[in-house]
Amino acid sequence: MASKTSRHPKKPFHFTRILVPKPTERRFYGHGIPGVDPTKLRGKLIVVEGCDGSGRSTQIQRMVDWLESSGHATVQTGLKRSTLVSEELNQAQNGNILSHTTMSLFYATDFADQLENVIFPGLKAGRIVLADRYIYTLMARDLARGTDMDWLRNLYGMALIPDAVFYLDVSAEQRLARNFAKDFALDYWESGMDLGLSREMFDSFLKYQAMVEREFRKLQKIYNFSVVDGNRSPEEIFNELRKRMEDVMKGNPRKPGTGHDI
Ligand SMILES: Nc1ncnc2c1ncn2[C@@H]1O[C@H](COP(=O)(O)OP(=O)(O)O)[C@@H](O)[C@H]1O
Ligand SMILES: [Mg+2]
Repeated sequence: MASKTSRHPKKPFHFTRILVPKPTERRFYGHGIPGVDPTKLRGKLIVVEGCDGSGRSTQIQRMVDWLESSGHATVQTGLKRSTLVSEELNQAQNGNILSHTTMSLFYATDFADQLENVIFPGLKAGRIVLADRYIYTLMARDLARGTDMDWLRNLYGMALIPDAVFYLDVSAEQRLARNFAKDFALDYWESGMDLGLSREMFDSFLKYQAMVEREFRKLQKIYNFSVVDGNRSPEEIFNELRKRMEDVMKGNPRKPGTGHDI
């Protein structure tokens, strides 16, 4: 009697679709870092940018969960995380003792440290590096304080051009509500209190954030950010980010600009 069982009655395992990242051309924005060959950096560098309270941490956590559960090793990085200068940066911020330029160089040093010790090793090992902010936040803050764009472009010529820059676009009112709901307070620096825009912190937050946002809009064009409407629910935002990340893995992302096309 013929058996009714076929040779493959059902799949024995649940197969998940694993996207193997395709290598793409790698370049620095400018002079790069001496001795680092960008073609050896095989992994993917994905940047999530956005003003304070735009939901970057929330989305990065979801990205990590999704990537790791689909078989990709990830590395996370962000600003003010280097052991080299972060303590000194905190002290300088608390004492409010440094000029804008010195502060800016302090941040650049912290960034260079992350680049050499976290981002490059992660990419060399073929990991997906997720950066919670990158040079654009540092530039936007400095530009809002009157720093020259060419000076900044030269300073951050050390940075690698990422595979994607996702910019979470959220209204200042929405971010103010989120920040306040989280901490019941606003941060002195995130409110731009050093600029003397207003003695009232809420007012200063809105004014300062509008200034930073204006600079971000200019950078969006120069660096060709992939703008994501962040005024929606975390799920809706993540669904869009996931689709865009799949494009990045396929080596087919919307390419960030080189920063020279203005
Ligand atoms: N899409 C969203 N809608 C409403 N609240 C959100 C959303 N995303 C994040 N939040 C909340 O807003 C606050 C700031 O989010 P967070 O991810 O920490 O932002 P960021 O890292 O950009 O400062 C948190 O309390 C978070 O739970
Ligand atoms: Mg955060």
